[in-house]
This record gives sequence, structure tokens and C-alpha cells, in this order.
Amino acid sequence: MTYSIIGSGKLGTALARQFARNGIEFGLANTRDPITLTALAQELGKPMIAQSLQEALKADIVILAIPFKAHREIGLAIADWNNRIVIDAMNTYGVSPEELGDRESTDIVASAFIGARVVKTFNQLPAALLAKHPEENGGRRVMFLWGRDHDANTDVVDLVGQLGFAAINLGMIEQGSKLLSLGGPLILQNIIKHP
Ligand SMILES: NC(=O)c1ccc[n+]([C@@H]2O[C@H](COP(=O)([O-])OP(=O)(O)OC[C@H]3O[C@@H](n4cnc5c(N)ncnc54)[C@H](OP(=O)(O)O)[C@@H]3O)[C@@H](O)[C@H]2O)c1
Repeated sequence: MTYSIIGSGKLGTALARQFARNGIEFGLANTRDPITLTALAQELGKPMIAQSLQEALKADIVILAIPFKAHREIGLAIADWNNRIVIDAMNTYGVSPEELGDRESTDIVASAFIGARVVKTFNQLPAALLAKHPEENGGRRVMFLWGRDHDANTDVVDLVGQLGFAAINLGMIEQGSKLLSLGGPLILQNIIKHP
């Protein structure tokens, strides 16, 4: 399985730290030349590969750590995502309720990533907390996830667990994305699961 993170800002860097800490190889890209990621690559070492956006979009699991408004252009750049997994780690800051309508934000994302299986996770905690070690007081920080494909959800549970979090799979329940979105009951909940 290959992984990439699109976006090297606050959230992308927090996730990059978790991949590196666990020795899981990943690509990282932003809108600029990969050379802009040299300092972070030197800090995080071998697991991190600074990539161009085009290279990063080829991974088996692509994590979107970009402003919500940027997702559409990226999704439509590839005609068929060929069943690959795209993780929607975005929140809808700056998007009007009219633009969202009644739709789940993750379904809006999926409509631009044709043929992809989109799973929502990693969006629910502030980047500074996400960057911290997920073990706390003998337990592990909870990461909720939701998506419309059972197998994709299972693969993302696996990744979230490899990164050290306690994955809670909301499965395919209706309104799942809204539970995790801005204003939803599961956002900003720093929950620690004990064995
Ligand atoms: N910050 C948080 O605490 C937090 C927590 C949870 C979720 N989120 C969500 O995570 C997403 C990113 O937030 P952030 O705070 O990390 O933002 P940020 O610090 O401003 O970083 C945004 C990153 O996205 C990249 N980017 C923007 N447009 C792009 C495009 N068209 N193609 C490729 N890369 C693009 C930027 O590239 P350049 O570096 O080249 O400009 C930058 O690296 C947002 O949806 C936000 O709601 C943030």
C-alpha cells in the first residue's frame, strides 16, 4: 500500500509526523516544487518522500489536507481514480451552507473524485493535537472515520491504527460525514480509549 498527503500546511505536517514516527513511507506534496519540503524531509528522515503533486496523486491512499475549496480541481485532474481510497481530512471553513446544501461534505468531495472511495477522517482534531503522540494516560486518542464503502473503511481503520490512534469506524451510517463535520457532535472531541 502506498500513501501520500496532499498539503504540507498545519494538518499535512501533523500527519506527516505520525507517518514518520511509525516508519511508514509516504509522499508529501503541496502546490509548489518538492524542494520546498526539503527541511521537513531532512527532519522526518527516510519515511518521507517529497513529491510533486502529480506524483503524490498516484498513491493507493491519498490524504487531502488542503482547503476544501481546492479539492475539486485536484479530483477532476484524474479522469478515473480506479477504486483508490481518498481520505477527506478537510473541514468546510469558508464554504457557505448554501454551497453545501443538504449534502454530506464528503459526498461533495466524492463527486469530484470519480471512481474513488472517499473516507472521512483526520479532520476532527486541531493539527497541534494530531501531531502529538496518540498515546495518553495509558490509552490511545480516538479517531472517528466514516465512508460509503465497507472495504475502504476497513483499510483506513488499519492505517489509523498503524499511526497509533484508536480507530472508531462509524461505518456507512446516514449523516456520518455530518457527525464529523464542523458543528457536528464528534468534532474537536479529544477522547482517549483505554484497553
Ligand atoms: N489546521 C488544523 O488544525 C486542521 C485540523 C483539521 C482539519 N483541517 C483541515 O485541513 C485542511 C488544511 O488545513 P491547514 O490548516 O493544514 O491549512 P494550511 O496550513 O493553510 O495548508 C494548506 C496546504 O494545502 C496546500 N494546497 C492548497 N491548495 C492546493 C492545491 N490546489 N493542490 C495542492 N495543495 C494545495 C497548500 O500548499 P502550499 O503550501 O503550496 O501553499 C498548503 O500546503 C483544511 O481543509 C482544514 O479545514 C485543519
